[in-house]
Amino acid sequence: MSPFPTSAPAGQMDFLFRCIGCEDLSSDAGQDFRCSRCGDLLEITYPDWKQAKPDAEHLRSAWHNRRLSPKPIDLSGVWRFRDVLPRLDDSEQVITLREGNTPLYDLPRCARIAGVPRLFAKHLGMNPTGSFKDGGMTVAATFARRAGFRWVACASTGNTSASMAAYAARGGLRSLVLVPEGKISWSKLSQSLDYGAVTCQLRTDFDGCLRLLQELVLRAPVYQLNSINPFRLEGQKTVALELLEQLDWQVPDHIIVPGGNLGNSSAIGKALLEMRDLGLIAKLPKLSVIQAEGANALVRTLREAAGKHLVSVQAETRATAIRIGNPASWKKAVRVLEATGGACEQVSEMEIAQAKAEIGAEGIGCEPASAVTLAGLKKLVKQKFVKPEETVVLILTGHLLKDPDFTIEFHRGELFKGSAGNVSALNPLRRPPAVLDATIDAVMRTLEQAEKS
Ligand code: F0G
Repeated sequence: MSPFPTSAPAGQMDFLFRCIGCEDLSSDAGQDFRCSRCGDLLEITYPDWKQAKPDAEHLRSAWHNRRLSPKPIDLSGVWRFRDVLPRLDDSEQVITLREGNTPLYDLPRCARIAGVPRLFAKHLGMNPTGSFKDGGMTVAATFARRAGFRWVACASTGNTSASMAAYAARGGLRSLVLVPEGKISWSKLSQSLDYGAVTCQLRTDFDGCLRLLQELVLRAPVYQLNSINPFRLEGQKTVALELLEQLDWQVPDHIIVPGGNLGNSSAIGKALLEMRDLGLIAKLPKLSVIQAEGANALVRTLREAAGKHLVSVQAETRATAIRIGNPASWKKAVRVLEATGGACEQVSEMEIAQAKAEIGAEGIGCEPASAVTLAGLKKLVKQKFVKPEETVVLILTGHLLKDPDFTIEFHRGELFKGSAGNVSALNPLRRPPAVLDATIDAVMRTLEQAEKS
């Protein structure tokens, strides 16, 4: 099959692609979303903003007023912010599942544990397919269909594929999923099956799946919906807008995100910089990225190579969503950390499990990859990077039910069986299910014991 030459939508465009390296501008992103001159990744930029910056007050009130509208494009917590997204000439073109509009919870007990006065969780796991991917997917799938593609494809640790499959199905597109065999949760795999994707479990890891996809898109007319697709990041940007709106435009001191392929940190960082440039916020929060120790490519890139070149790793972690050793958007993430003054930390498997249970004990379920944020916050407080009076927002990226095996193994005490570490610290958080005879006495005894503990 011949290469499919254009990934930019036909018709009037209010945006251009800009190379993050040489800053070359172009109206075509090719099939690999890389600069045709220097090979760096592309991002979307809005040249009109130079002449006629959208007015901050006008934006705020338009976004607020749209919450009262019954139109599908306004009911979407992503398209509600369409003034800072690539323009569509017709709102009917939108593929939406009513994504976004996710809750901001306070976490008083986790705040006490971490040692900060105010701690919030922006729970992106409350999106239609259970993860933050929906925010980017609604935009990227919409533009894929508008550009005339019939097939979309992604490599995934499970959440991108679930989201892509759902949006493709809603939009009448076919989808191809490449996932590492045996390395993603069944819950996520079940989603892409149910939404009708052609699902390939490849005998490799996520990085191997992504490499294969890069070759595939040059040979087949499929449109890549991984987060190197700059339309994805535009959609994911709206999380930061919605968060600031929920905080009444009061800027928190810190936002903490998990880091895998590093698209999300890049998107949220881009949004913060744009919001500052548009006068929506007066200062930047520090955006910090937390990785699992076993998948710490960005941590090592900063520590060992001062952010100049990628130090890739052979990734291993039970937080399978972020089991990524060769993150595609590492340069964008480094830029965001530098621009906002954020930190990059790593946390152990036990720290992740403990943090996840602590968040769960507040009635808020998230997947292990999301819990790295609380585990990382505890470290950043100890290091005095986060000060005792500062306000912190954790970005929870996926729902608890995305990976129930992890949670069940944790509570049954099976998660770290055979591992050398000291697991006793986790015991107070464990709530194993009791298997009992079906008698009142047995249940009463269990209740009494629980009351004492
Ligand atoms: N949290 C969850 C729940 C994820 O699914 C991912 C990434 C991340 C965090 C990391 O975000 O890659 O933007 O730095 N999941 C991708 C996937 C890779 O295929 O579902 P990132």
